[in-house]
Amino acid sequence: MKTALVFFAVALTVVAVTAPVSANQSADAETKTKSNKEDAPTVDEQIAGLEAMCAANTEARAARHAKTPLFERLGGEEGIHKLTREIVRLHLENDKISYMFEDLDADRVAHRVALFVISGTGGPAVYDGPELEVTHADMGLTNSDFLVAGGDIIQAMKNMGHGQEEIDEMVCILVALRERVIFEKEGGKKAGGY
Ligand code: HEM
Repeated sequence: MKTALVFFAVALTVVAVTAPVSANQSADAETKTKSNKEDAPTVDEQIAGLEAMCAANTEARAARHAKTPLFERLGGEEGIHKLTREIVRLHLENDKISYMFEDLDADRVAHRVALFVISGTGGPAVYDGPELEVTHADMGLTNSDFLVAGGDIIQAMKNMGHGQEEIDEMVCILVALRERVIFEKEGGKKAGGY
């Protein structure tokens, strides 16, 4: 878990911020994934777009975080607990990924994720859970799952009144951590997936 937190912190200072392609636009693009339109970006293209957006904004994001840590701009511990409860609520309403959460204690998941976010955005080091690789090892997650879950996170942040800068920063943290939770190619999902 120490590795997870270090990586998370590095993501904040090394990855991107003010984007030519905003996280907002990327989330909108995600809805095209299943449209089968020939001109719609593939899942891999959307991931590449997010990575480019983040790479283009690294310095601006780091400067904002240095001025006021994302932790504070998310409303501190209380604000982050509220945010992760909203994220899990949206996951449970999302037909594409709800099956992964519906047998779990939603409050516990929200609490654990909140501790992770608090620790990784400049708040106190309160997360003492397992490494991301361990937690997500048996979930069979794909990049599609990543985009779907990311869409919920963006929507939750909008619902909580957070601005585009904070959304982009959160998205870029997730993008930096993606390879630690995604181990399956598209189509490699277990039965019960979509
Ligand atoms: C970079 C992206 C992600 C990060 C940083 C992340 C982070 C976390 C963290 C910190 C936890 C709590 C672990 C603990 O109990 O201490 C967690 C749990 C969980 N995550 Fe993720 N996650 C990511 C992506 C995903 C995706 C894409 C999905 C599925 C769509 C997912 C599904 C879950 C589930 C189902 C749990 C609950 C596991 C359990 O309690 O049994 N995660 N995640």
